Amino acid sequence: MRIVQITDTHIMKEGELLYGTTDTAKHLRAVIAEVNSADPKIDCVLITGDLVEQPNEEAFHHFKKIISGIKPTSFLLPGNHDNPEMMAKVFEGGQEFPPLEEPFQYTLEDFEVRILMLNSHQAGSDLPAFGKDRLAWLEQTLATSKKPVLIAIHHPPMETGMSMVDMVGPEWYQGLDHLIAKSPEVKLVICGHAHSTLTGTLGGVPVYMASSSAYQLAVPRGLDRAPFFISMPASAVLHEWNGDHFRSGPQAWPAGSDEKRIDALSGMDWDSLKKSMRGKK
Ligand SMILES: [Fe+2]
Repeated sequence: MRIVQITDTHIMKEGELLYGTTDTAKHLRAVIAEVNSADPKIDCVLITGDLVEQPNEEAFHHFKKIISGIKPTSFLLPGNHDNPEMMAKVFEGGQEFPPLEEPFQYTLEDFEVRILMLNSHQAGSDLPAFGKDRLAWLEQTLATSKKPVLIAIHHPPMETGMSMVDMVGPEWYQGLDHLIAKSPEVKLVICGHAHSTLTGTLGGVPVYMASSSAYQLAVPRGLDRAPFFISMPASAVLHEWNGDHFRSGPQAWPAGSDEKRIDALSGMDWDSLKKSMRGKK
């Protein structure tokens, strides 16, 4: 199964630029164009929060219009910049964000891997929250199936070395840590939020933090300093389930690139090039 993650899209009202300079809509459209040309095809797209820069309906409708161009079915999570109630209203009746009330969490059951879409949004704060109601929902949901599970959540539930992320402390994800440690069906946790890429673990399970389609943050790990803004989209991330474990990493699908394949560049057909790679063995 092939799952694509896009995160932290930070869409503005139509016609507006982030910080007056960065066209987050253009950056997202470029990522979508690549995802739409993915070969082999992908099964679904998960957009893991910070869908808009400011939670107003105009920005959400602009976001909705842009993601209507994604060919595979796509599913959404709220981030700290979003408003789950407003998302429920804007996407009511569609498949992208089905929950209508707290805890604003849901499952995707129609794939080879079960996907649990969690909510770490805390009203009035950029910091995460995952209280007992959300945790109880997760515990009950995990008890209903033994299929392999991927968990998606906006905030990274791990220590990152980034003061911007770690200032909340580890308490908010302790319940998640304990629950996942006793749930062997959970194979991967994915998140966004820090606009940079990092891996970690939660309850012994790999965590993959993907970077943003809108802009990058050069976060000085180990120093208590504000991050550096870089106006550049990250590639989408491909999480591939091979029947045993996930292989995760950024994946580009550049258009019109046949002449840039290394067999064409080296003047050899692919089989001959592979033979030369093997050497004399
Ligand atoms: Fe973000």
